[in-house]
Amino acid sequence: GAPVKVDINGLKLGEMVIAEWRGKPIFILRRTKAVIDYLRDEGLRSKLADPDSEVASQQPDYVTSDVRSLSEELLVIEGVCTHLGCSPKFIPELEPQPFDANWQGGFFCPCHGSRFDLAGRVFSGVPAPYNLQIPPYSVDGGVVTVGE
Ligand code: FES
Repeated sequence: GAPVKVDINGLKLGEMVIAEWRGKPIFILRRTKAVIDYLRDEGLRSKLADPDSEVASQQPDYVTSDVRSLSEELLVIEGVCTHLGCSPKFIPELEPQPFDANWQGGFFCPCHGSRFDLAGRVFSGVPAPYNLQIPPYSVDGGVVTVGE
């Protein structure tokens, strides 16, 4: 499929937009400093199956291994659960959730309950085997291009 260009000039801190590329939802999220600090916290990392994204198939090699992006702030990720392909829900608040106090928001898959953080990293002990996929992308000023 052709690359998709998304204008993110209006995207505020903490907000997410959903684009579409190759029939897949692409989540583009502007993360706050509080979220970035939380993503690097050892307490969170110890709950993740692959905190440093060692499964290389899930992302291009030019993104950072931990927060999984070109720049810390902007996450560009496929909104497709790595279990059976449902689209996870975005839960932006960093608060313990009623059904799992260990999970403080991020992406939640409604199909079988897989949980991911705001870098798309999968928690241990859920059905999804891998972190969410990062598509190929580039950023030029206020425009994100998804695809090559
Ligand atoms: Fe997401 Fe099964 S498809 S948990």
